[in-house]
Amino acid sequence: MRDDLTPPGLHPLLAARWSPTVFDPAFEVTPAGTELLVEAARWAPSAGNSQPWAFIVARRGDDTHRRLIRHLAPSAGRWAPSASVLVANLAHRWVEGTDWEFSEFAHYDLGQAVAHMTFQAGALGLSVRQFRAFDQAAVAADFAVPGHWEVTSMSAIGRVPADSGPRPPSALSPAPARVRRPVDDLLWTAADPPG
Ligand SMILES: Cc1cc2nc3c(=O)[nH]c(=O)nc-3n(C[C@H](O)[C@H](O)[C@H](O)COP(=O)(O)O)c2cc1C
Repeated sequence: MRDDLTPPGLHPLLAARWSPTVFDPAFEVTPAGTELLVEAARWAPSAGNSQPWAFIVARRGDDTHRRLIRHLAPSAGRWAPSASVLVANLAHRWVEGTDWEFSEFAHYDLGQAVAHMTFQAGALGLSVRQFRAFDQAAVAADFAVPGHWEVTSMSAIGRVPADSGPRPPSALSPAPARVRRPVDDLLWTAADPPG
């Protein structure tokens, strides 16, 4: 759905995307839908096709979900557990057993993979909030993530309840969290570099 912040012509999936903090606690993404989300990430581009990403995927109610939600910060703990799917997004940072970078683009590429997953979610009628508000070290320890991988972020994925108000909330009163820098400020010119 468009809001007052998105210009006409923007792809509908881009215009409709926003990051909710309310999810329908009864709605369930199907196992096939969950697999599609991972498939979308899998097809993201990456430097040298290095594919420096991995995902801990949990569906609400399963054991992985019970373990992940234990490590949420109080802020995310208010909304992330009710999402149907929780994903921890991991970056392959180092070559195992060395201090050599696996790829200087590991975070860049993980972000692209998560963006692919986010838009596949949109195509399935789902919403995603990516977040950092959790204990990265505790997730790494709980899931025995080796030191050359980094638990970078999480994504809460699910359906926004129909009766939860305007979508996104900024349609009525633009929230600072969704205000964007103007296009002029994004375009780098030698005479007028971005601030
Ligand atoms: C890497 C990353 C980390 C984020 N961390 C948090 C977080 O810890 N808590 C939170 O509520 N939102 C978090 N967000 C969501 C952003 O606040 C949100 O995407 C931003 O305000 C823009 O809003 P929009 O996604 O609705 O356009 C994060 C987003 C990204 C991409």
